Amino acid sequence: MIIAIDGPAASGKGTLARRLAVHYGLPHLDTGLLYRAVGSAALARAIPFDDADALGRIAAGLDVAALDPEALKAGPVGEAASRVAAVPQVRAALLRLQQDFARQPGGAVLDGRDIATVIAPDAQVKIFVTASPEVRAERRYREFAGRGDTASYDEVLADIRRRDERDSGRASAPLVRAPDAVLLDNSALDRDQSWQAALAIVEAKRRETGSAT
Ligand code: DC
Repeated sequence: MIIAIDGPAASGKGTLARRLAVHYGLPHLDTGLLYRAVGSAALARAIPFDDADALGRIAAGLDVAALDPEALKAGPVGEAASRVAAVPQVRAALLRLQQDFARQPGGAVLDGRDIATVIAPDAQVKIFVTASPEVRAERRYREFAGRGDTASYDEVLADIRRRDERDSGRASAPLVRAPDAVLLDNSALDRDQSWQAALAIVEAKRRETGSAT
């Protein structure tokens, strides 16, 4: 069973994807980390965000086993990731790796922006997780504050709106809900309610498709 989870920044899609992977015993790929790694390398090497060929080369040479999720989750890396993710050469270089991950025997859980539309359009389960920008900013703000980050709520909200606009407005594989994806708006749900809603969506799909996994 392939479970595709898409949604904007801080929608809670990563938490749900991780938990679904554990629940069903499936491998999980947080595809945002790939773009974050390219963005982080671009920042470190001072490569301009319009140097598509250089960014594409970084993406093609990415060592996925060496990614450090903790370091890549830091604030400025998210913005850089969103910038490099709009570059078609970067997306092309990361495509095969993600498709191979999705198609491994037994299936997988992947979360990102274009999983249901581009990476695994054949996924049995597609969930589009979202929440209002204000709710997402509040969550991200608390998360950053917990790590000692000094960004204000207004700065976090502005960053989220900017990334939403760029991720949804780009020409190459924009963030969009696949027509057959189930919408999970968790604006008014706590973590556990959101988990129960996601689980109910997967279970309903499993019954519908008779999935053995
Ligand atoms: O999910 P995240 O916040 O870690 O993603 C960081 C950025 O990477 C996001 O702003 C857009 C980009 N991204 C993408 O374009 N496609 C994906 N499948 C995953 C992430």
